[in-house]
Amino acid sequence: MLPIVAYGHPILRKVGEEITKDYPDLDILIQNMFDAMYESQGVGLAAPQVNKSIRLFIIDASPYEDEIPEAKGFKKVFINPIIHEESGEEWLFNEGCLSIPNIREDVERKSIIKISYYDENWQYHEEETYDGVLARIIQHEYDHIEGILFVDHLSNMRKMMLRKKLSDIMKGNVRVDYRMLFPRLKKGKR
Ligand code: CO
Repeated sequence: MLPIVAYGHPILRKVGEEITKDYPDLDILIQNMFDAMYESQGVGLAAPQVNKSIRLFIIDASPYEDEIPEAKGFKKVFINPIIHEESGEEWLFNEGCLSIPNIREDVERKSIIKISYYDENWQYHEEETYDGVLARIIQHEYDHIEGILFVDHLSNMRKMMLRKKLSDIMKGNVRVDYRMLFPRLKKGKR
């Protein structure tokens, strides 16, 4: 399994590069990303989280299918996406991130998005509209390719309260049952 890059790694702060159809072994990368995402029980995974600074993320929202019918079979690849517009009410949703294990926080975002992107077959999808949980997952993953993490959206007070936990994650002082790449792991420790 591809290791998931942990909080504190500089690649998570880079703005991803667009890719072209001749990007090497894209199919394999996408397959490996799905494997890593399922292995770590995520609903979304962005390329920077597997150490690739490119504009690509994947989503499989089916774990939410009991709560929202649209999540059923919602398995998608987003290449070179652009969110054109965010609208609607701001609402709170409890977010987590495979790069920031064991932290979940309520995050406020707008409820509706308009997005254009290419799928894994390089079909162009123009200005598709999503709302609710699906929009939320897309917004979270889209942030990753812009170098933004969900904890950035929290109040300074919440950020301060998470400081110790975040620094532990960087050092690998965290219990997690999938493979991770920790930026500040001391040699000889695992
Ligand atoms: Co994330």
